[in-house]
Parts: sequence; C-alpha cells; structure tokens
Amino acid sequence: MSFHLPAIDRAVAGLRCHNRGVKPLARTVSGVTASGIRRYFDLAATVEGVVSLGVGEPKYPCPPAAKAAAIAAIESDDDAYTSNFGRLSFRKAISDEMKRLYGVSYRPETEILVTTGVSEGADLALRAILEEGDEVIVTEPAYVSYGPTVTFVGGKVIALSSSAANDFEPDPDAIRKAVTNRTKAIVLGYPSNPTGATPSREVIEAILAIAIEHDLWLISDEIYGRLVYGVEHTCVSALPGAWERTIMMGGFSKAYAMTGWRIGYACAPAAVIEVMMKVHQYTMLCAPTISQIACEAALRHSEKDVETLVAAMEAKRNYFVSSLNELGLECRPPKGSFYAFPSVAKSGLDSETFTERLLKEHKVLVVPGTAFCSWSGDETTGRNHVRCCYAVPDEDLQKAVERMAQFMKATR
Ligand SMILES: Cc1ncc(COP(=O)(O)O)c(C=O)c1O
Repeated sequence: MSFHLPAIDRAVAGLRCHNRGVKPLARTVSGVTASGIRRYFDLAATVEGVVSLGVGEPKYPCPPAAKAAAIAAIESDDDAYTSNFGRLSFRKAISDEMKRLYGVSYRPETEILVTTGVSEGADLALRAILEEGDEVIVTEPAYVSYGPTVTFVGGKVIALSSSAANDFEPDPDAIRKAVTNRTKAIVLGYPSNPTGATPSREVIEAILAIAIEHDLWLISDEIYGRLVYGVEHTCVSALPGAWERTIMMGGFSKAYAMTGWRIGYACAPAAVIEVMMKVHQYTMLCAPTISQIACEAALRHSEKDVETLVAAMEAKRNYFVSSLNELGLECRPPKGSFYAFPSVAKSGLDSETFTERLLKEHKVLVVPGTAFCSWSGDETTGRNHVRCCYAVPDEDLQKAVERMAQFMKATR
C-alpha cells in the first residue's frame, strides 16, 4: 500500500519550464500525468498494419434502433437542449431498466441524471462528495480515470493492490485496514477494466459492511454490468443497506457499442443527484440530445442486440484466453468486461518492454499493466501483466494470437 502520489511528483517538475511570462497552470490538474495508455496509442499510429487490442471499445456496430432514432431526431429537428437532468422519457427508460435487471428502484424525476458518458458521471460523483484532503480507496489494477479525477477535486487516492492469485478481486480486509477518519468513499469498478474481475455478492457485501460501519460512500462504476460470463453481476445499490450510500453509474459505451455517442447515467438518492446536477448544469448543460434519443431507443428496443454482443464476447473470451494460456501467457478466464489481463512473466520481459517489442516487431498493440497501477506503486502486478481488449473482429483476434505466438517463440 502506498500513500504518496508518484504521478504528480514526476510531472510537477515539468511544470516549471512551462508558460514563460505567464503565471503557472493549476497544479492540481497539470500535476497529474496523462494516461499511460496514450503513449502506446501514439506509437501504434506510426505502425502500418497493426492489430490493436489496445483500445477499450467493442468493434461492433451500434444497435439499428439507436441509429434509426437518431436519424429521425435529426430529420425532425428534435435537437434542442433537454432538461439538465436529461430527457424525462429517457430517465423513465433507465429507471425501468434498473428495476428489470436488478430490482432496484430510482425515481426518474429526481434520482437519475443523464451524463456525458460514465466519465462525466464519475467526475460529478466525486465532486459531489469530496472536500480537500478527503481520502478515497481504490483497488488497483483500476480504470485509469479514478485516480486523476479524485485528485482533480483535491481528494487523496488511497490505492490498494490486488493479485492474480485472487482473480484481482478487492480484499475487504485490506480495505478495512485502509480506512481512516479522512476516508470518504470507496470506488468499486466491477466488472473491472482492466482485469475482468467480477467479485461475488459476498465480497461486495463485505465491503458494504465496512462502508456502513464507517459512514462511507460507495462510488460504483457498473459500465460493464451487462458483460458477465457464467456469473451474475452484483448491482451494488440493490444490496440491502447500500442504496442510500451508493452512487451507481451505467452507460452505453460498452454493451451497446456506443462509445462516441457519449451517454451515461448516474443513479443515487435525490440529494446527491441534485448536487451532481448543479455541476453538470453549469459545465455541460445537458448531455447531447440526439445521443439521448438514440440511447433511449437502444434501451427500449435493443435487448436482443445486447444479448448477441455479450454472447459474441463470451466466445471471443473463451478462444482468446485458452490461446494465451497455450502460449504460456497465463490468464485465468475473466468473469466480466472484455479484457484479458495475462501474465507476461514467461516471456522474461517486463510489461512495458513486452508491449513495445510486440508492437514494433509483430504489430500487435496491448497495454502494459503499469498503466493501471500507478497510484499503488504495485510494481509486481503492473510489470507482470498486460491488458488485451478482445472485443475485436474474430479475424483480428486470430491474427493477434498468431503474431503473439511468433513473439513468444522469439523471446524464449
Ligand atoms: C471502467 C470504465 N468506466 C468508465 C469508462 C468511460 O465510459 P464512457 O465512455 O461512458 O465515458 C470506461 C471506458 O473505457 C471504463 O472502462
């Protein structure tokens, strides 16, 4: 466990040589390093014929009902600002979906906010609850945005690590030990980007018990909630005692393959949504109208498309994970999301060298685990693993496996 912020320390030095003749930029923001993933995307852009398992998005068309609704909205000039909370009919559809999937109730009028992706929702949630110096517990490897967004609002990330031996699940005992009188919230991002970890209901209940005992908030990013394989997703706020302390976020980027439409939603008690809405109102006004209309249609008419996408992802996962294991890249089948997080230990390389050489020598892009472990300083997990997004066409996945096989032969 580490309580310092290495990413900030490193970047602050760079600030001094910036902006000659003008006062310095805001330290809280410019002191955070840009996502470690970006460097590899830039590198990949210079390599012809690359197969990318790097970007976290499904290479899939979005549901036809969403496209048709968007086209109809454009043609009928249905493109004005919406309520700051989002279109009421859309919020009703979200409320119905939460009830249908998880049996949890949210009032569309006051307990749901439509956001510009889960990205904005997470930022608003943290702004709504954090004050300078408040601590937030995050278990790594974790989605790259959690640490920076906590820092942007003056919070302090208390990063814990997890291990392959435990399927990268959060450890309730470690969380309990990390709680101090400054702790305000625990971030839960499951199913996980980058590991696919999907903790059981019992593990989530144990974390909930800690939150109840210490009056903490739970920030639950459930953007991959529909993408689970052979297990059930535990919706945090549906657990007894969780609703009043949970800010639940869902979205359309993953299971509906609608990354660029930029729509997500937050569900929480009215008092929390009201505060989140204030920031959203003054900074965003409303989420894009055409996209809201498209996503409402997706929710109402595209269940079959989601089921087809999830079944396709499960088949890809099975093929890819067994191929990785055959190559010596050890990987237990992830239970959710669409990432594999294999160990590269057998290659004899650390994850960053593995990633660079695999890209330059065999034209496959993956992301080193270090990009997801920068707050805990957990050298072992980050340096020993890479993230591979298998939500790509089958022919690309096969090509990636063939190239990785050549690479593994060359490294042994
Ligand atoms: C765990 C997680 N949360 C949030 C996001 C961002 O989602 P959105 O596109 O809805 O902003 C991503 C995107 O990769 C993600 O993996």
